[in-house]
Amino acid sequence: MSSKPNNIVILISGAGSNMAAIVRAAQEQDWQGAFGARIAAVISNRPHAAGLQVAQAMGVITGVLDHQSFDSREAFDTALMQQIDSYQPALVVLAGFMRILTPGFVQHYAGRLINIHPSLLPAFPGLHTHQRAIDAGCAEAGCTVHQVTAELDHGPLLAQAAVPVLPGDSADTLAARVQAQEHLLYPQAIHDWLRAAA
Ligand code: GAR
Repeated sequence: MSSKPNNIVILISGAGSNMAAIVRAAQEQDWQGAFGARIAAVISNRPHAAGLQVAQAMGVITGVLDHQSFDSREAFDTALMQQIDSYQPALVVLAGFMRILTPGFVQHYAGRLINIHPSLLPAFPGLHTHQRAIDAGCAEAGCTVHQVTAELDHGPLLAQAAVPVLPGDSADTLAARVQAQEHLLYPQAIHDWLRAAA
């Protein structure tokens, strides 16, 4: 067992299905015993994010920081950093956290901030990735876990999973196929990160 406490803080904005997959993997694979790692908190920028109740039901501490209560992006990110840093995290995991982060935030967590994006980066950074993959006639779509850098959806790639784009796919059917892979890929990528850091 590692003697280093490897606190992980997960940031969400919505359903939290990736967060739940990560928490489940941490519990089932005993990341605490293997790496001294625990999911210290799940924090949402939306007070009514469904993922908050999911996290609580799984026994994880939750926090809310409503971005609408702040006058500027910088003020929100500064407060968010304070909340995150109260857990002294080794790793900050963006899991459907739908906020553009300030350069100061990204710099503060350089090397310990990761994201999952629903495309095969570098293809389709930004929004509406599934419809754009369909419209472009791609034979494959997928998801990417990457380090977060100042440029949106452009950090070094850590892991990818591909799925076929099938005839008749809508953005929703393709998203469901990609999300099933996200739920495998993201916990695996974090497990690999913890093993490498141990
Ligand atoms: C996921 O599909 C994730 O890839 C995407 O948001 C969804 C969140 O779902 N993230 C982005 O688009 C980031 N640019 P979840 O809340 O159920 O995990």
